[in-house]
Amino acid sequence: MNPSDQSIPDITEDVHRTLEQLGVRDAAALGHLFSQIESRLNEEIAQLREKASDAEAIEAFRVRWLGRKQGIVRGITDNWLKSAPPELKREVGQRLNALRQNAERGIEQIEKPPTLKFATSEVIGVRDSVSSVQLAESNQLDVTLPGNRRPIGVRHILRQAIDEITKIFVLLGYSVEEGPEIESVYYNFEALNIPEDHPSRDDQDTFYIDRQTVLRTHTSPVQIRTMEKRQPPTRIIVPGKVYRNETPDASHSWMFHQVEGLAVDTNITFADLKGTLDHFMKAYFGSKVRTRFRPSFFPFTEPSAEVDVSCIFCGGAGCRVCKGTGWLELGGCGMVDPAVFACVNYDASQYCGFAFGFGVERPAMLKYGIQDIQQFFQGDIRFLRQFR
Ligand code: DAH
Repeated sequence: MNPSDQSIPDITEDVHRTLEQLGVRDAAALGHLFSQIESRLNEEIAQLREKASDAEAIEAFRVRWLGRKQGIVRGITDNWLKSAPPELKREVGQRLNALRQNAERGIEQIEKPPTLKFATSEVIGVRDSVSSVQLAESNQLDVTLPGNRRPIGVRHILRQAIDEITKIFVLLGYSVEEGPEIESVYYNFEALNIPEDHPSRDDQDTFYIDRQTVLRTHTSPVQIRTMEKRQPPTRIIVPGKVYRNETPDASHSWMFHQVEGLAVDTNITFADLKGTLDHFMKAYFGSKVRTRFRPSFFPFTEPSAEVDVSCIFCGGAGCRVCKGTGWLELGGCGMVDPAVFACVNYDASQYCGFAFGFGVERPAMLKYGIQDIQQFFQGDIRFLRQFR
C-alpha cells in the first residue's frame, strides 16, 4: 500500500500489542481504538474499488486483513481478544466479528459488483405473480423477463366507419375537408339558400348559441367554406359531427355524424352523381346492392333526390328492417343550386356540380347489426371491443 494514499493514521501495527500495553482499559478507549481501525479498513476498501484493482491487489488486501497467520484480524484475536479483561471481552469479540465481515464483504463486492437492485414495490412491469414472488425473494429486477402486456385499444367503430367511407372517395380523387362545429347562421343556413322561415331553422331542431351562431346541423356549410377558398375543379368529402335538438332514443341522438360530398367542374351531370353514389354503396355494403334515387327537395340543390340502397338484409324482398319496402333510406343529394354558386362567386354558366350528404351511424348500424344508436356514445368497452 502506497503510504501517500493513507489519509487515516495506520494503527494496524497496534494489533501486535495487547490492550493493556496499549493502555486501553475501558469501553470508551476500546470504542475509539476499534473505530480507528474500522475507518482504516473502509478507506482501504474504497481505494481498492476506485482503482478497479486487479486480482493481485485484491489478494494482497485479503492477506493483510484476513491472512490466517499474519492478518490484522488474526492479530486482534491473539493480542486483544484473548487477553482482554472480562468486562471488555464481549465487546472486543463483537467488534472483531464485524470487522472481519466488513473485510470479507469488501472483497466480495469488488470481485462481483452488485447488480441493479430495486425495492420490490418499485418494480413495474412484473409479468405475473410467479415472477413477482421471485422478485420479492431476491429483491432484484430481472431485466430478462418479458414486459407487462397492455391491452391495445381500437379505433372507435364510428372512426373506423368514417375512415372506410372517406377511403372509398379518396380513391376516386376526393380530398378530405373539415369545418367548425360551432358555425355561423350564415354558413349553416343562409349561404345554403335556406331562408329564414325554413322549418329546419326552427328552435326545435337547432341549438342556438346566440342569434348568429349555432351548433352546425349538417356538414353542408363546409361546401361553402371550401368553395370560398378554391376555384373548381372541386372534389371534397367532409366527415364530421353535427348537432340537432332531438330527444334521444334508439334511432335519434342530439349529436351524430355526417359525410358530405361535393364535386364541381365543367360538364358534371346527374349521371355522374348516380354513378358515384352507386359505386360508393357497392364498395361499402357489397357489390350486390342496388341504388335508387327518388325526387326530393333541398334548398341548396336543384334537382334534389333522396338516395336509397336495396335492403342489405332481405336483398329487396321486404323484411322488418326495411319495413317491407325492400329499400333503406340513406341520404340526400342533387345538383348544386346556382343560388349557392352565386354566394361563393363560382360562375354558374361555366361550372356545375353535385352534392350529397348522409349520416354515418345509420349505415354502420345496418352493416354491423347495431340496434341502438346510443351505444356509439356510451363508451361501454364491451360494446366497443367487438369491433376490432
Ligand atoms: N344537409 C342535408 C341534411 O343534413 C343532407 C344533404 C342533402 C346534403 C342534399 C347535401 C345534399 O349535400 O345535396 O339533411
